Formats: sequence, C-alpha cells, structure tokens
Amino acid sequence: MQLNRRDFIKASAGLCFASSLPTVSPLLAADESLLKPQKIRIEVGATQPFKAVHVSDSHFCLVDDREVERKKKLAASRLKHFGDGVKRFDAAMALAQKNDALFLHTGDLIDFTSHKNYETVNAKFAGTYSFVSAGNHEYSHYLGEAKEDEAYKAQSFERAQKAFPNDLKLASKVVNGVNFVAFDDVYYYVTPEVFKAFQAEVEKGLPIVALCHVPLHTPELFKLAIGKNSQCAYLTGVPEELMKDFNPGRREQQKPDATTVEFLDWLREQSLLKAILCGHLHYYWQGAFSKTATQYVVGANYSGAAYEIDFV
Ligand SMILES: [Fe+2]
Ligand SMILES: [Fe+2]
Repeated sequence: MQLNRRDFIKASAGLCFASSLPTVSPLLAADESLLKPQKIRIEVGATQPFKAVHVSDSHFCLVDDREVERKKKLAASRLKHFGDGVKRFDAAMALAQKNDALFLHTGDLIDFTSHKNYETVNAKFAGTYSFVSAGNHEYSHYLGEAKEDEAYKAQSFERAQKAFPNDLKLASKVVNGVNFVAFDDVYYYVTPEVFKAFQAEVEKGLPIVALCHVPLHTPELFKLAIGKNSQCAYLTGVPEELMKDFNPGRREQQKPDATTVEFLDWLREQSLLKAILCGHLHYYWQGAFSKTATQYVVGANYSGAAYEIDFV
C-alpha cells in the first residue's frame, strides 16, 4: 500500500500521545521556484474534490560505472538538454506532497535505459501517492538505433516495470469515484490487449481520466503540431491522408494500424471519458478530444512545466 502525506500524518499520530505529536514536514523539501505550474480545474464528477500534480518528460540521464562508454557518452550529450530533469522532478513531487495531491507522470521520466536511471526512479516513487503511464524513452537503449515496436520494448520492459509504481501497459486507480486509466501508446499505437483492457475499465461505469504519453490526434492539435515541425506531428492516430508530406521514416513510425484507428473511433464515443492527460510534445496544449473529454498536454518537466489540477 502506498501512503500519501495525510495517511503518513495519521499513521504517525496513531503512535503518539496528542501532546507529543511530531511536526511532519514535507517528505521532500525541493525548491518550488524550479516549476512554472499552470493551475487547471477539471470537472469529472468526483465524489469529493481532490488535487493532483501532473508532469511529464523529465528525461533523467543518469549513468555510473556499470555502463559502457557508449552509454556514458550518450548521457554527457543528453545532459546538456535535460540536466535539470531530476531536480525539477523532485520539485514537482514535493509540490504534490505539500498539497496532499496525487502525483501523475505521463512518461519519458528517463531518457534512456541505465542501472542508475531505473534505480533512481524506483527510489523516488517508493512510499509516494503516484500513478504513471510510460513514455517511449522508458525503453530506449540508444536513441533511434532500432525500429521501436513490441519486440524492441520487450528487451527492457521487465527492468522498466520494476522501477515504476503501476502496470505500464494498462493500469487503473480509482480516486474519489474517478477511474484513472493509464495506457501504453508510446510508439503511436495501442495493442489489442490494451484496447480490450480499456474496454473493461469502461464497464466499471465510473468517470474516466485517461493517462498516456503520446497525445491523441485531433484536427486542432494536428494543425498546431505540424506548424511547429513540418516533418511530422508526433501524435497517435493521425489519419494516413494527412501524412503525405511527412518525412518517410516518421510516416512509417507514426502511421496508425487498424487496431489504433478502431480504438480511437471507439474512445471518442465513450461518454464516461472526461479528460486525457499526456505529454511527449514538450509544450502545453489543451483542447477538445470528444464531446465529453478535454485533452491536456503538459510541457516538459525538465523545463519546469506542470499542471496543478483541482478535480471536482
Ligand atoms: Fe519527451
Ligand atoms: Fe516522448
């Protein structure tokens, strides 16, 4: 069982006489000036209002002497971009703990596979009130060195899974009558197993907040994304006819398969779906996904982005 700070205080109080209650300081005392959070309110029909902190894309680049030279060189070059990832992750976790908020992370917590990255992630989540979805980088040995598919993911899946607090393929956590459903779309597709497991979550009949790494295609988000980068949109489920001008390698990578097209058509019709939280783009965006659900893309945690969310 995981404890949030309030549970921790209650557990501590149960062990003490009232006159000798300990002063419980935040579990982490990180510097919140490292964050530039946006405050949002999401109406989901919770039985009681509650808070969450949502971040994504921390891109830890940690190595030690257990890694080979090639990996150490990769870390050195990536640290130039992502050097603040760990301290800004700590700041976000501290903010969540201070506010008794659920800590949500939607992937690319690490930049590449390494002993030190996985061990650090495991230690940071221990005893926290957290829920996550995986990102594409959670399984990257070296970046872009191979076709990224289920076979590639399988090479590091067990190591990654041990480090994170919930199932990285599909997981559910119910908070105050709201079903948080984290699912794997890290390589721009969902598998039939993920689709089936998501359908079972809808059967629970609760309002759903979905977490995934790669944002889901909508015409408005596509327009923005392709305006920022003419090579491709980096979204799950872009219709093939919109990919004509993509870089051929990116078209091959991001072309949705039949299951993914079917899944997204189905998801748009699910009236229990109220919100989607995701990342991957490293910039903020909010907009309608369906008649009932808004999609919230959070910017990169390594640069200080975060959502502070009031769920009501
Ligand atoms: Fe990322
Ligand atoms: Fe990503």
